This record gives sequence, C-alpha cells and structure tokens, in this order.
Amino acid sequence: MRKPFIAANWKMNKTISETQEFIYNFIPELKDTSDVDIVLAPPFTSLRISAEKLKDTNVTLAAQNVFYEEKGAYTGEVSPLMLIDVGCKYAIIGHSERRQYFNETDEIVNKKIKAAKKAGLGIIFCIGESLKEREAGKTFDVLQREIEKGLNGIDSDNIIIAYEPIWAIGTGKTATPEQAQEAHAYIRERLNILYGNKADDFCIIYGGSVTPENVDYLMACKDVDGALVGGASLKVDSFMRIVKFRKES
Ligand code: PGA
Repeated sequence: MRKPFIAANWKMNKTISETQEFIYNFIPELKDTSDVDIVLAPPFTSLRISAEKLKDTNVTLAAQNVFYEEKGAYTGEVSPLMLIDVGCKYAIIGHSERRQYFNETDEIVNKKIKAAKKAGLGIIFCIGESLKEREAGKTFDVLQREIEKGLNGIDSDNIIIAYEPIWAIGTGKTATPEQAQEAHAYIRERLNILYGNKADDFCIIYGGSVTPENVDYLMACKDVDGALVGGASLKVDSFMRIVKFRKES
C-alpha cells in the first residue's frame, strides 16, 4: 500500500516572515492528516525557520534544489550535507524550471540524485514532456530517457517520482485524469524494467496546476499516489484542501 504523498513547491515565493505566517495558520489544520505524507519545499532562506516551527508536526521539509559536490569553491551552491544540517528530508531534483532556465541536463540531474542520496536525502525526481513533445507523440520517449538517464546507477530507496508535464505547470491547464494515469502507468512500467517488482512500491506523484478543484479526480487514478503543488500551495486553505483530498468512488 502506497501512502499518499503531497508536497508544496513554493518556488521563489515567500520571505521568512511570510513563511512564519503560513506555518502559524497551517499547524492547527494538520489534525487528522497522519495518513498522508506532507512535505513543504520553501526557498532556501526559509528552510531554517520552517524546520524550527514544524519540529513537532508530521510535516517534513524538502529543498527545491541541491548541488552535487560536498563542499568547495562553488559560489552560490548548496550541498546535500547542508540540507541535512538544516533539517531537510528531501530534495527536489530535475524540476523542469531548472532544466529549462538553468540548463540542467539529464547527466547533471543524475549526479545530483547520486550525491543527495549518498548524504541521506530522499529524492523528489521530476520528469515530464513539453507541449511540443506531446504533440509530436514523443511523451513516452521523453519519460523513458529522463528515467533511464536520471536514475542510472541509482538504487530504488527513497525516490519519489514526480510526473510534471511542462505544459501543465503554472498554466492552469491540468492533465486529464486519463492523461495522468496513462503517463503514470508508463512510468511504473519503466520502473519495473529498472527495478523489477519494486516498481509497485514507488510513489509516483503528479504535478502541474493541481488545485482543490481537480485533486480528487487526479488522486482517484490508480497510479497517481500524490501531488507536487506549486501555485495552490501558497495559501493554507487551498493546500490543506489538496492534502485532505477525497477519493472519488
Ligand atoms: P503549479 O506548479 O502547481 O503552479 O503548476 C507545479 C510545480 O511546478 O511543481
């Protein structure tokens, strides 16, 4: 049985005081949510205060990025050990915004996953096709390439796969449950080839304009095990409605 996994990706949003305000209103809402893994990925600058304030709750922390070296002359980068040190349990790796704006290749993504795992972090590994790739019928090819290259030489422990079609991110254009299920089933099939019968244990979460309005339908899909939520995670009300999704029968 896979436990639902719902993560908030705040991207480059919220100052420290805005983070504190969110958490202040968030904590009382966490009653009866122990059946869901809840993860918050604030910007680096808000990690420390988040770790402090969420200490006695069931919420864990993720960083939105990480570098693959342990330490040294890499101005502006943050190492896996530093993330462990500040209280992170996960790192988001391979997000399409990092691939697109910061030129992260599959090879870089693979190095980051290796380094982060070595330090003991869980990985939220993002993959997904662009609109052009989907329209050209290349969705499965892209997913296969990203999985094979990204997970090359990596064992299966503590990896969450986030399927995030790029055309659905921040656009308000969510994948239909059929599109999500089809992609998730394909991803599980590829994981089956890589990891044998462990594929059934993987949490495969969906990201791309998840909202309180569509979460129930998405979570009703057999292979959708959770959500990576951007815009709708910035407000406590909408994020909590997503955390407390209802399975459609
Ligand atoms: P969105 O972002 O929910 O704002 O579309 C999702 C993500 O990029 O993780």
